[in-house]
Formats: sequence, structure tokens, C-alpha cells
Amino acid sequence: FFQAVASPPSSNFLLLGPSGAGKTAFTTLLEAKSSPASKKSHATHTSQQSTLATVTLPPTVPTGSNRYRSVNDPSLKEAIRNPIRYRVRDTPGHGKLRVSQGLAELSTMAQSKDIKTRLRGVLFMVDTAALVDETTLRDTATYLHDVLLVLQKRAKNGSSSKRTTEIPVLVAANKQDLFTALPPGSVREKLEAEIERIRKSKNKGLLDAADTGLEDEEEILANDEQETFTFKLLEFETGIKLEVVGGAVKGDQEEDFGSGVRRWEEWIGMCL
Ligand code: GTP
Ligand code: MG
Repeated sequence: FFQAVASPPSSNFLLLGPSGAGKTAFTTLLEAKSSPASKKSHATHTSQQSTLATVTLPPTVPTGSNRYRSVNDPSLKEAIRNPIRYRVRDTPGHGKLRVSQGLAELSTMAQSKDIKTRLRGVLFMVDTAALVDETTLRDTATYLHDVLLVLQKRAKNGSSSKRTTEIPVLVAANKQDLFTALPPGSVREKLEAEIERIRKSKNKGLLDAADTGLEDEEEILANDEQETFTFKLLEFETGIKLEVVGGAVKGDQEEDFGSGVRRWEEWIGMCL
């Protein structure tokens, strides 16, 4: 028997991150897990356009409103019968498409108050084997910095009493199956240190601009440039929560390497 009327998914997640991180591979995997019957071809080529996928949360993944679901819980039966659906927007990570697509999409979705397009969370995917390369690290951190700045501006414009409505960010530390992959903890440290550098040079640029009398509305991430940047400082200053969680799109079926994508699905569940 099929459910006659499935409720339309009302939760949206945005998938950002540099080219080659595995965003499309992740989206394709979620789609395949959602409807095992339909065999989708794995698109591993560079994306040039955003796509929207409707997928389901595995019934055993607890949701924010149903946090302590146990195997004996009747709500689990209900979740199996009527799985929770949500939408993922996969964006192209190429440097030339970020501003026009990923960041533009983020600005639009972050401002939307419409329940149909409301943004529940941002997944920023990184290739943890590629971060040892200085250029890749700088590129990745710059993109993340710009994403966080959009969210910070949104947080500032909103009423300060509603801290709970800030859009959370998951840094999905992908490709943990590769033996050259950096562990999530060191991904976190590297990104923090690199964002600190970006922040410093931006602040210096602003000061120089102020000397020449040029007005600039630009702001610094996490405000207090006296303090060293950490994601904790960001949360303290803006209310934006960021977590770095390891996983692997490749290893998901084997339930091996850092439990595949399970912990990212758990993060998504907590946002629902
Ligand atoms: P753009 O569309 O250019 O932004 O890139 P993307 O983030 O969509 O990357 P895509 O999903 O196309 O993946 C890039 C490559 O990484 C593909 O060859 C994938 O098969 C590979 N890949 C994705 N996830 C993993 C993983 O967990 N482990 C390994 N080893 N490879 C992966
Ligand atoms: Mg892609």
C-alpha cells in the first residue's frame, strides 16, 4: 500500500562547498537511499547548475522534535510508515559560480520567511584529503568565510531576542575513507586558523581604506577582531552554531569509514 497523500517536504537544506568535495555524490546517495528502486546514474562531473532533490530521512535517525526515539518507540513505526521528507539543494562549487549560485542561493533562502523555502541548515562539504594543499585550504576557508558572513549579516538584522532561529552550519568533513584524509578535529583547526588570516587581512584592508577616507560598510566575521577566530567565538558573537563532523559518501554502503553519511543525517534530523 502506498500513502495516498504524502505531506510536502517543508524543510530545506543548502549544500555548499568547493568543487570536488562530493556534494553531488552525497545528493545522489541520499536520492538512492530514499528510493532504492530508481537507479540513478552517479554524476561525478563538475556541476554547473543547482539542483533540488527531495529525499527522506532514515526512520532510525531521530529528529529534533523526537530526540530520544528508541527501537521500541511507537513513533519509529510511524516513521517507517511515513518517512520524513526534506529537500537538499546541491550547488556548483566552482570558484566562478559561487557568487552567482551558492552564495546567491544562500542569501535568498536565508531571508525567506516562507515556510516552503525556509532554510533549516547549511551543509558545507569539504574534501578532507585535499586540505593539506595550501591553495585548496585557502580557497575552502575563503568560501566558508563568505558563507558565514552572509549568515552573520542575517543574524544581525533579525531580532536579537530570537537567537534560536539562527541557521546552523555543518562542515561535512568528507572522504574520511582516504588514508590521506585529515581527521575532523584538524580540519576544524585548519579552517579556524585560515579564517583568522582572512579576517586579519580584511581588517587591515578596511583600516587602510578608512585612512583614504573611503567609506566601507563591510564587516568583520565574529566582530571582535582583537580575539583569535574560532567557531566558538563565532557562536558567542552571533549565535550561529557550527559543527565539524567526519564522514564518507564512498563508505556509506559498507557502514565503515566514520559511519558513512549517518552522522550528517543525524545532524539534519536534529534540525527538523
Ligand atoms: P562540484 O559539482 O564541482 O562543485 O563538485 P562536487 O562537490 O559536486 O563533487 P562530486 O560529488 O562531483 O565529487 C567529486 C569526486 O569526489 C567524485 O569523483 C566522487 O566520486 C568523489 N567522492 C565523493 N565522495 C567521496 C568519498 O567519500 N570518498 C572518496 N574517496 N571519494 C569521494
Ligand atoms: Mg556537483
